[in-house]
Amino acid sequence: MPAEQAGTFYGIGVGPGDPELLTLKAVRLIAAADWVVYLANDQGQSQARTIAREALALSKAGQQELPLVMPMSTDRRLANAAYDQAAEQIQQALEQGLQVAFLCEGDPLFFGSFSYLLERLQDDFSCLAVPGISSVNAAASALVEPLTLLKESFAVISGRHNDEQIRNALQQHDSVVIMKAGQARPRILALLAETGRNDDARYLEYIGRDNQRIETDVRQLADEAGPYFSLFVVTRALADNRRGTR
Ligand SMILES: C[S@@+](CC[C@H](N)C(=O)[O-])C[C@H]1O[C@@H](n2cnc3c(N)ncnc32)[C@H](O)[C@@H]1O
Repeated sequence: MPAEQAGTFYGIGVGPGDPELLTLKAVRLIAAADWVVYLANDQGQSQARTIAREALALSKAGQQELPLVMPMSTDRRLANAAYDQAAEQIQQALEQGLQVAFLCEGDPLFFGSFSYLLERLQDDFSCLAVPGISSVNAAASALVEPLTLLKESFAVISGRHNDEQIRNALQQHDSVVIMKAGQARPRILALLAETGRNDDARYLEYIGRDNQRIETDVRQLADEAGPYFSLFVVTRALADNRRGTR
């Protein structure tokens, strides 16, 4: 088939949890896709699919779903093998002229699994991304607190960074979001205390989902690992920051 008749591969952001936080474009493209692809665990459960359930209820007749079972391992070789295999399946669909939508929790290009398929397919196929509301933006909305104002600096880091990197971010930036907080929670709590930023910090789990949790006093958090879908938002305490001097 000539390249121009091949299908398009769409990375579609479905937001962090609330099924109403999909864009109109995401809903339209999900409903119209020939194939809908998403990551799933070994029980077939998929966060992205659950979030997109209302859009999928509008899907055209004959749409096929392809769950990609991703091994729960920190060994990147296993993940890479799964992405290789998935890319081959998606390639075959695109070569038949099918439109393939990959559902991605949050935004597809912000710590998004779409990126790993994109790098395998973008040289040979048309690939497009539809932005989604990231967990960072959803966290600020859940807190109803500004992330940044005026000249404040802002960093996004991960619980997978080492202590020095997290400490530096907390010392150097006014606002910091620490993603992937789960396993790193005890280390992050110690670093917040050490850098004097306990009062600036908020902790959120499962934003936009039925089991959403917000802890505004991080001293109340158990000193143990939390779930994967968790993050810390650190901003200058409202009392001292927003006088226009930063
Ligand atoms: C692989 S990254 C995916 C980020 C996603 N693409 C986004 O735009 O937010 C996974 C991390 O995002 C954060 N995250 C994603 N969804 C979340 C949610 N609903 N509640 C809390 N944290 C979330 C957590 O820190 C989690 O460890």
